[in-house]
Amino acid sequence: MLYQKVAKPVLFHLDPEQAHHLTIGCLHKAASIPGMLSLFQGLYGVAACPELNVSLWGIDFPNPVGLAAGLDKNADAVKALSVLGFGFIEVGTVTPQPQSGNESPRLFRLSADKALINRMGFNNNGAGPMAETLAKVGKRSIPICVNIGKNKATNNKQAAEDYVSCIRTLYAQADLFAINISSPNTPDLQNLQHGEELRNLLTAVICEMDHQKKLVSGKAKPILVKISPDLTDAELEAIAENALMSGVSGIIAANTTILRDGLTHPNAKETGGLSGRPLTLRSNEMVRRLYKITQGRIPIIGSGGIFTADDAYERIRSGANMVEIFTSVIYEGPEITRKINQGIVRRMHSDGFTSIAQAVGTAE
Ligand SMILES: Cc1cc2nc3c(=O)[nH]c(=O)nc-3n(C[C@H](O)[C@H](O)[C@H](O)COP(=O)(O)O)c2cc1C
Repeated sequence: MLYQKVAKPVLFHLDPEQAHHLTIGCLHKAASIPGMLSLFQGLYGVAACPELNVSLWGIDFPNPVGLAAGLDKNADAVKALSVLGFGFIEVGTVTPQPQSGNESPRLFRLSADKALINRMGFNNNGAGPMAETLAKVGKRSIPICVNIGKNKATNNKQAAEDYVSCIRTLYAQADLFAINISSPNTPDLQNLQHGEELRNLLTAVICEMDHQKKLVSGKAKPILVKISPDLTDAELEAIAENALMSGVSGIIAANTTILRDGLTHPNAKETGGLSGRPLTLRSNEMVRRLYKITQGRIPIIGSGGIFTADDAYERIRSGANMVEIFTSVIYEGPEITRKINQGIVRRMHSDGFTSIAQAVGTAE
């Protein structure tokens, strides 16, 4: 209510990227104001509910609804975001070196389509500063996934070194990692999803994860791969097989699309990745296919066009162990995590399930 009536009209009056920076800035500030995090928690938190708990890779997630990458690129607002009812937060995409990203304007609202188009281009402060920021957060209340990428200036032959460098710099601070090889806004990046380039990359990052684990003598941390919704069926099958063979921990399906089907807003002509409502069916179909190919042997996180509990529950029934949201947070506000989680519990009850795990992959 507060978001729809007060914050959203103000934010939507601003340029989308300005609104974004203002939001992250306010969330960052809020964490240092006494009582503010408790207030946020009371307004937007999701009450502990054992039926919503998800346990994967030895990590406990309080609920299956995470925040997708790109909203908090530098991990500036982790403390405040952690009390808004998410089951986990994905920060980044972070690259080894800081980079400014593409020229502005580079973020566009398509309100009538409940969508966004972005061509940000991995604007971020770099892996070192993110590690320092995360170290200051201290003890976390929910798992933090660090989404890593390569710098624009790094060609694909050297790309693995960028991902390895991010792991090295951020290993101690991340609960899990996601490798972003699917953004449409970094030239050539999506080619890392295929054949030899994919195999070399996965081998290199898994080797570094093992090395880091030994260095800190800790338990293994998971590393997931985030893929594009624009893959053909054959490409999806090949990636799934590579993921299974490489020992990668999971797949995030999917990133933004370059397709523009069924849009009404004039901003549809803008170049970049499309997110939000237009992705719902495509991303769900991808999860369904992936689950069929992998037979539940590798966890899947569903991303793309999830606005309601029905969307989230359908994604889980299609094969996702958890989901993550971005565009719906912009259009619906922070109330969305509670709405989705409460709705998931209602749907689980009516299907006779007592845990998320029981619902995964039960769609026909
Ligand atoms: C403005 C914006 C920036 C994004 N930046 C990233 C990013 O840096 N890394 C990434 O893996 N995904 C990024 N994404 C993709 C989202 O994480 C998500 O996968 C995608 O938007 C689909 O989910 P949604 O429909 O709920 O937004 C971005 C999306 C938006 C809208």
